[in-house]
Amino acid sequence: MIPKKLIEHIKSAKTPLYFYNMQLLSQTLEQLKTASSKYGYHIHYALKANFNSKILKEISRIGLGADCVSGNEIEKALENGFPAEKIVFAGVGKTNDEILLALKNNIQAFNCESYQEIIIINDLAKKTGRKAKIYLRLNPDIIADTHKNITTGKAENKFGLQPSETEKFLQNRDNLKNIEVEGLHFHVGSQISDMNVFKNLCFKVNKLQNDFYKKGLNIKNLNMGGGLGVDYLNPKENAIPDFQKYFDTFHNHLNLKANQQVHFELGRSIVAQMGTLFSKVLYIKEGFQNPFVIIDASMTDLLRPALYEAFHKIENLSNTNRPKIKSIYDVAGPVCESSDVFARNISLGDTRRGDIIAIYSTGAYGQVMSSSYNLRPAASTLYSDEYLF
Ligand SMILES: Cc1ncc(COP(=O)(O)O)c(C=O)c1O
Repeated sequence: MIPKKLIEHIKSAKTPLYFYNMQLLSQTLEQLKTASSKYGYHIHYALKANFNSKILKEISRIGLGADCVSGNEIEKALENGFPAEKIVFAGVGKTNDEILLALKNNIQAFNCESYQEIIIINDLAKKTGRKAKIYLRLNPDIIADTHKNITTGKAENKFGLQPSETEKFLQNRDNLKNIEVEGLHFHVGSQISDMNVFKNLCFKVNKLQNDFYKKGLNIKNLNMGGGLGVDYLNPKENAIPDFQKYFDTFHNHLNLKANQQVHFELGRSIVAQMGTLFSKVLYIKEGFQNPFVIIDASMTDLLRPALYEAFHKIENLSNTNRPKIKSIYDVAGPVCESSDVFARNISLGDTRRGDIIAIYSTGAYGQVMSSSYNLRPAASTLYSDEYLF
């Protein structure tokens, strides 16, 4: 439920506007902590989901580590209170400068994605007189039951070492003196709600671990990645994901060795529901099938619908006092692309120029994917604790 005072504020505010509910973030983090600490699991927040400093400060204050995919993300994590020893660094294309930055700051570990990358990290660590801790990111070839563009653990995806590369590493590892293998890393995709996917991942990991033991490699820790989905259909009813069910799945199916740590890298499940994108209706335009509601937010503010055909719940907040009519619209932005559409065939009630539109669950992979395409200005930002309701 959006408070009336906030709606009043938005009326005169510059839109599009990203609103972040800091109270919901705190509640989400509390539940995450309770659920993960039951099993002593270590959580790294995936900065890519949302890297706004205010949000990062709150997450680091609670004690989470960080999962970064660029040198800039490492710097941002450090600036916002994440200790270097809780930062992990993934990505298939780490540059030399980024690797050197990570080495200089003594981050916890590199999640390595190719054999060649391991060689380069070893060389750079040697040149700078350091030892780099690495996790081998393996591609478990798992079907993640999510959109094809956000599945990452299938054999054809670009992520993780291919079995042939792992084999090469094992054969050459005694020569890589500036590398220390900390463990295995996995991440099979995002927006996964079916716990069977994670259960299958556990089975794969159990087998892979045993294979490594047989080959003489001791796996100290496991990093199971992120991927827990959120309820985009019912954001108000299910504002906080079921972290307990998620961690229980790993606890029940993962065979751990003595003293093995388990790490996770969650992004979406922590920040998605705290964000709402507010926009105003510019025009009601006649369409072929349905009228178009043209709003002042576009794919430059929220790319997910254009990029992944992602669903976001959309409501008109201005028509509660108008007679209820069933009116079906397509909701589109102003950008010169046919894919700049947020929803098709949705019921919004009587909708008019100037109405306030709320697009829910936009805290993750929303504002961070913004662009200035069409030279559009950036959306403004409002945090719940900076505004008196
Ligand atoms: C390696 C890695 N870890 C963690 C995440 C975070 O995933 P999610 O936001 O689905 O939890 C991603 C996202 O794509 C990722 O690529």
